[in-house]
Order: sequence, then C-alpha cells, then structure tokens
Amino acid sequence: MEHTQLIDAVNIRTAVRAYDNEPIDDDTARQLSMTLDAINTLAGTHMQLVLNQPKVFAAANESGHLTNAANYIALVEPNDDLEARERAGFYAERAVLTATLRGLGTLWVGGSWDRDEAARHCRIEHGEELYLCVVIGYPEHHLSYQAKSYDELVEFQRSHRPTKTFAQFTAEMSDTERAAAPDWFTAGVETAMKAPSAMNKQPVTFTYDAVTDSAIARLDPRETYRETLNDLGIAKLHFQIGAGTGEWTWGDGGRFTRK
Ligand SMILES: Cc1cc2nc3c(=O)[nH]c(=O)nc-3n(C[C@H](O)[C@H](O)[C@H](O)COP(=O)(O)O)c2cc1C
Repeated sequence: MEHTQLIDAVNIRTAVRAYDNEPIDDDTARQLSMTLDAINTLAGTHMQLVLNQPKVFAAANESGHLTNAANYIALVEPNDDLEARERAGFYAERAVLTATLRGLGTLWVGGSWDRDEAARHCRIEHGEELYLCVVIGYPEHHLSYQAKSYDELVEFQRSHRPTKTFAQFTAEMSDTERAAAPDWFTAGVETAMKAPSAMNKQPVTFTYDAVTDSAIARLDPRETYRETLNDLGIAKLHFQIGAGTGEWTWGDGGRFTRK
C-alpha cells in the first residue's frame, strides 16, 4: 500500500532534532521550493527555503540539543499581524507534511536558533519580520530511517511523546456530547492531537456545535507564550486533514464548516 496522503504524513511525523551531515539533494530542494512557491502564491505567505547555513544553529548544534541542523524554511511575516501568525502555522505545517512524505525530517523552531543570523539569508521586505523557522533535512541515519516500515513509523509517532487526552482536547464538551459528535469531528480532533506545538503545550481545544453542525477551535487563555497563534494554525490544519473537506475561519474561536 502506498502512503502518499497528508493523513499518512500526520501519522508518521515527529520532531526531528538530529540530522545527517549531508546537503538536501538538488532535485528535492527544487521540489520543496516549488511547493513553497505554490503555497506562497495561493496563501499570501512569504516562506523561503534556505540551505546550508549551519551557523544559524551553531549554539544548539554545539550543545547537543540539535545535530547537524543547517537548512530551514524561514517564516517571514508582516509585523504585528496576529492572523498572519496563525496562517503561517497553517501553511508551513502543510509544507512540513509534504516534506515528511519525501522522507525529510523537520523541526519547528522558535528558540533553538540565531534569528539575526537566519534573517541575513532571507528576503525581508519593509514591514515584515522573520518570526519562526522550520529546520529541514535528512534525519540522522536516514537510509535506515527510510527502510523502516510505515507501521513502525506510525508506532513511533504514537508513543514518542506524551499527549493531552481526547477529553482534554474537547474540554468544553460533556461525555454525552462527545459520543453524539459526528465521526468527522472525532477524526479531526484525533489528527490535531498529533500536531506539533511549541514545548508540546497543545494549547488548542475543539468543540462540536450541533446547532450549526460545525466545529470551533479555541486557544486555552492560560497559555500566553509567543507561539500560541502559530500552534492554533497548525492544529487547525491537522484537524482539517482528519475531518476531510471543509474550511476554517481564522482566529481564536474560528469555525470549521464541512463541505
Ligand atoms: C511553534 C513551535 C516552536 C517550536 N520551537 C522549538 C524550539 O525552539 N526548539 C525545539 O527543540 N523544539 C521546538 N518545537 C518542537 C516541539 O517541541 C515539538 O513539536 C513538540 O514537543 C511535539 O513533539 P512532536 O513534534 O514530535 O509531535 C517547536 C514547535 C512549534 C510548533
């Protein structure tokens, strides 16, 4: 069975902190750039692929937190634009999942980098800033990694880190409401549970609204760290992949309507 769908990528993606000391081959880099260009055109984002700049991650590589991190997708966004942060989360995670299907490892990075050094290699227009990046590259020992079966990778994803429970992800619903919610809602939440989030905080909850047959995503108001809105966008993308066709409105309290 071929595993080429975004849901397959969700099921095997994990944060990768150790990479092989090997540049991304030209063909793969070109395809990644084309993916980013296509997303940028459709979504109005300004993501950029930067290759072979290990200095950006020198401190994290030296401390052992990362190994051989050198390439990144730069998330360049308008300054002080809250919706842009959420959109960057949503669309960059789309690129992450495409890269996962090509056997690449990724790591969202808010802290483990030298942002000023990273900015030197990007095109940043007036009124824009480099907010975050996603490290990308071949996972360490990538030939043996790529030889692993899909089921092995799924099992690793399932067990590699703690996660909030389904009940915590749907904290505003009663057990009766959870049981009565449609399958697409349950699948959406289960897919969001596998999403990356800064410090694994998992700050987003989902509620099914039976009156409008839609889902609502909310940020936990107790979470006030810098990347909450990126995490909201990432979680919404995952939910959408699990739920099937449909569309979100942006923002904390945004709604997903199935089409
Ligand atoms: C917006 C964002 C920022 C992150 N920043 C960092 C970082 O600076 N350093 C790091 O090691 N991991 C970082 N991570 C990775 C998370 O720690 C990781 O996604 C989380 O622990 C869940 O694990 P998983 O991605 O394997 O599912 C970040 C993740 C996100 C979504």
